[in-house]
Amino acid sequence: MQKHFIGGVIPGSIIAQDVYGNDGVLLIKKGSMFREQYIPRFIDAGVQEIFVEDNGTMTPQTINTIRKSLNIQDVIHEKTRTHAQNQIKKTMMKFKSVSNSDVQRIGKIVEDMIEQILDKKDFVFALTQLRSVDDYTYQHSVNVGVLSLIIGIDLSLTKEELKNLGMGAILHDIGKIMIPEEIIKKPSKLTLEEFAEVKKHTEYGYEILVQTDIEEEAARIALHHHEKYDGTGYCRGLRNTKIPLFARIVAVADVYDAMSNDRVYQKRFMPDKVFREITHLGDKHFDTEIMETFARHINIFPTGTGVILNSGHRGIVLYQNKLYPESPIVRVFLPKEQRAKRLYFDLDLSVNTKWSIKETF
Ligand SMILES: [Fe+2]
Repeated sequence: MQKHFIGGVIPGSIIAQDVYGNDGVLLIKKGSMFREQYIPRFIDAGVQEIFVEDNGTMTPQTINTIRKSLNIQDVIHEKTRTHAQNQIKKTMMKFKSVSNSDVQRIGKIVEDMIEQILDKKDFVFALTQLRSVDDYTYQHSVNVGVLSLIIGIDLSLTKEELKNLGMGAILHDIGKIMIPEEIIKKPSKLTLEEFAEVKKHTEYGYEILVQTDIEEEAARIALHHHEKYDGTGYCRGLRNTKIPLFARIVAVADVYDAMSNDRVYQKRFMPDKVFREITHLGDKHFDTEIMETFARHINIFPTGTGVILNSGHRGIVLYQNKLYPESPIVRVFLPKEQRAKRLYFDLDLSVNTKWSIKETF
């Protein structure tokens, strides 16, 4: 247990003793979580210091609580995200087919997603969760859905078109249910034969989806999402605008999300590297207009990202610098031995240029 000035308490810390105001009224009970928005109330009540449990090191749990207290919002509700992940998991676990009721349920989820994204004024995509490699496919499917919808909304697609785009995007890899699991989950490089087999998931996906009630333009996303703008992709080697618009959108979302996360065979890339890589691939692999639309809605280091600085300090991204997206404002947490007066300080990386982000967590 440590006594701290309220300005120095890490949001998310657990309060170790009941806190009373000067008038003797109980403000908050022991065991509650400290939130930044309590500060003005405490000051009004004359409270300057409180006892909090010693958080020790920054555990993933501490980071998560801090993220929650920063009130970082996903573009879609947590419930919708979980529901979508479970639904795609159920759909993909079924034996080599997709039923019309699965398609309908996914359609309903996509409608909810569209409403929720449209509700946000400035929708910026933030990867809010750390994902497990096991559930990678389902989480990836949902993220590709959300990212594609964000691009589609910016391109002023109609609600009907958005629904088809979202459904096709969520189901873009459905053909993988036909590929042997040992190939899909192989942690090392695939042989040429294995890769040829993996490539077939595009055709398989289309064949599975056209047998359902899903619209043709949604099914074609599964068929063409690995086409590249310069014609070097698969499965048809289409070029430029010969590639259907929805497949061009999903291609960007798919590659971005895949590079940003740990996969069975590859560690994720740092967000700034993903961003540079993707924009660099722009005119070769992607449609430049879609690429630029996408870039407008991505924060390289979204608010709430856990970061490790070149100094070794750990912190959390608090705000974005619109002009310098690679240099956000970070709340840096001091290690135990440096915490004499304060637990953290806020640092603008665009001004303090000797500090930089080395890693994210
Ligand atoms: Fe794919």
